[in-house]
Amino acid sequence: MKADQRILLTGATGGIGRAVARALLPRARTLLLVGRDAGKLRALRDELLAVSPDVDVRTVAADLASEAGRSAVADAADLVRDGINVLINNAGVGALAWFEEQTAQDIERIVQTNLVATMLLTHRMLPALHRQPAARVINVGSILGDIGHPGSVAYCASKFALRGFTEALRRELAGSRIRLQYLAPRATRTELNSPAQNALNAELGVASDAPEQVAVELLALLDGARPERHLGWPEKLFVRINRLLPRLVDASLAKQLAVIRRHAQQGVKP
Ligand SMILES: NC(=O)c1ccc[n+]([C@@H]2O[C@H](COP(=O)([O-])OP(=O)(O)OC[C@H]3O[C@@H](n4cnc5c(N)ncnc54)[C@H](OP(=O)(O)O)[C@@H]3O)[C@@H](O)[C@H]2O)c1
Repeated sequence: MKADQRILLTGATGGIGRAVARALLPRARTLLLVGRDAGKLRALRDELLAVSPDVDVRTVAADLASEAGRSAVADAADLVRDGINVLINNAGVGALAWFEEQTAQDIERIVQTNLVATMLLTHRMLPALHRQPAARVINVGSILGDIGHPGSVAYCASKFALRGFTEALRRELAGSRIRLQYLAPRATRTELNSPAQNALNAELGVASDAPEQVAVELLALLDGARPERHLGWPEKLFVRINRLLPRLVDASLAKQLAVIRRHAQQGVKP
């Protein structure tokens, strides 16, 4: 499977998506790149083809939060010779914001994009993936899919649910030829993070990864059998502590609450 991947990558025009697309080039026969911005997709396609002219690089400009957008993506996937055998659900939105100050539309957009669109695109792609001798679905979540964090309430809700979706569907499809996996990056240097988020991370001493590091971890997941991969130290430890001793994390975040609140209330809404 490694040598002959036909890969559908959502969020391809973002910071992590571009790094993942570049890293996938040596193993891809086809790359079907999805984003909303046709100009960014064209630029990425040109860049990738300049490096690897033999790879079949295709693009679809579509809003995954809409039924029409997901249909356009599924239709483009149907045209790929021998079909898609790797689906990477990476598109996502989020921003540091105080929950009570977000509008209903802000909250809905985060949950629709990060969770509902991913579930519905996956649902749409499953019949075609079942026809493959082996297929993978990787959902890109977040460390905030394990740790409820002030200032990221709607985002955490979407990523906790995405992790639950991945785990449940993986168990439902046990014994099938489709393997579900979940990648949880920590803070990563992309435009997803608003200036307020970056300022908060700096004040709290939160480390962040380059998108290329996330791409390395995603490829390792794709090459292995592990169901989940969490990035970063001490984040991996916090995930375990949060599961075993959540009161400790409550106490630690309570101490940071005023700082988080100050940045979130200065923050740009999603
Ligand atoms: N950056 C971090 O700190 C971080 C940490 C943990 C997890 N993650 C996760 O990593 C993934 C990638 O994030 P990133 O940091 O690369 O963010 P990014 O640079 O902001 O890119 C987001 C990508 O998602 C696409 N997208 C957003 N809404 C969409 C929609 N409705 N329909 C289609 N495409 C849509 C964007 O396309 P356009 O070109 O149309 O904008 C873009 O390609 C996300 O799932 C995010 O939650 C990020």
